[in-house]
Amino acid sequence: MIDLKNKSFLKLLDLTPEQIGGLIDLAADLKEKKKAGIPHRLCEGKSIALIFEKTSTRTRCAFEVAAADLGMHPTYLDPSGSQIGKKESIADTARVLGRMYDAIEYRGFGQEIVEELARYAGVPVYNGLTNEFHPTQILADFLTIREHCGGLKGKKLVYMGDARYNMGNSLMVGCAKMGMRFVACAPKKYFPDQSLIEECEEIAKSTGASLEFIEEPEEAVKGADVIYTDVWVSMGEPDEVWEERIEDLSPYRVTQELMDKAGESCRFMHCLPAFHDLKTTIGKQIHQKFGIDCMEVTDEVFESKRSVVFDEAENRMHTIKAVIAATLADQ
Ligand code: CP
Ligand code: NVA
Repeated sequence: MIDLKNKSFLKLLDLTPEQIGGLIDLAADLKEKKKAGIPHRLCEGKSIALIFEKTSTRTRCAFEVAAADLGMHPTYLDPSGSQIGKKESIADTARVLGRMYDAIEYRGFGQEIVEELARYAGVPVYNGLTNEFHPTQILADFLTIREHCGGLKGKKLVYMGDARYNMGNSLMVGCAKMGMRFVACAPKKYFPDQSLIEECEEIAKSTGASLEFIEEPEEAVKGADVIYTDVWVSMGEPDEVWEERIEDLSPYRVTQELMDKAGESCRFMHCLPAFHDLKTTIGKQIHQKFGIDCMEVTDEVFESKRSVVFDEAENRMHTIKAVIAATLADQ
C-alpha cells in the first residue's frame, strides 16, 4: 500500500505522479474489496473531524462512509455549528482538534486556511474543497477516467467554463502531473492564473503533459477523451455575478452537438452538483430571471450514455478512503 503516513493532502502540487497514481491504485483496490464484501478496517479506533464551512453532499458523505468502512469515528462540524473563525482562530482550532482527532478534513474558503490548519494541527489535514483547489475530486475523476478510458497518460481532457476556480485549477494540475493533454476552453478572462499555468508547464516538461487554452469550443473538443464542466457560479461567490457568467459562458455549455464533434468515445464528466434541468431552486430562479432551462450542460448530455457523472460521484468515496488509509493506517 502506498505510504503517505502522517502527511496532509492539501493540493496535488504537493504530490509526485507516483504518489497520485498510488492513491488511485489503492482506491481501485479498496473499491474491489468493498464490492466483494471484504472488510478493510485499516484505521480501527481512529477518529476524524470533518469541518464544512460550505455545504456538501458528496464530500461529506464520502468521508463519513469511508471513515466507517475503515473502522473510524467521524464528527461532522457544519457551516454554522462551531466556533471556527468567529470566536476561535484557525490555529487554535487546529491545536484543539489535533489533540482529539487523528485527522481533520476541511472544506471552506481560501487555500491558505487549510494550509494553516495543517501547519498547526499535528495530524494529517485533508482539503475537502477550497476556492483554489479540490484535490480529492480529481482523484475520483482520474479513477473514473482510468475505468472508462483505460488509462490516464496521453488522454485529452477538455474543461469547459470558468477555469480559474477550484475545478479548473485542480484538473490542470492533475493533468500536468499525470502526463495528460489538458485544454481549458473559455473566454480568455476565465483562464487559470498565469503563475499556476507556468508552474504546470514546468511539471509538464517532465511528465509529457500538454496544456492548451482555447476560446473556440468546436476547435477545443476535437479528439477529446473527456469533456468536463462545472457550475458557472461557485459556492461563496455573490449572486450579482450570475448575469455576467450566463452571458460569457453560455457559448461553452456542453451540448450534444459538442459531444458529437468530440467523437463517439468521448465521455462527459462533472464534479456535481449540476444545473441541467429545472428541478432545483436555483435552477428555477435562474430560469425565471434569464429564461434558460439549463446552464453548463444540457439535460440530454447529462442523462446520456456517455455521461459518467454517477460513477465519478461513487468514486469520491473510494478515493477519499484511499487518502485516509494511506495517511493513517499502519503499513
Ligand atoms: N463534488 C462535490 O464536491 O460535491 P459536494 O459539494 O456535494 O461535496
Ligand atoms: N466550483 C464548485 C465545485 C463544487 C464541487 C464550487 O466551488 O462550488
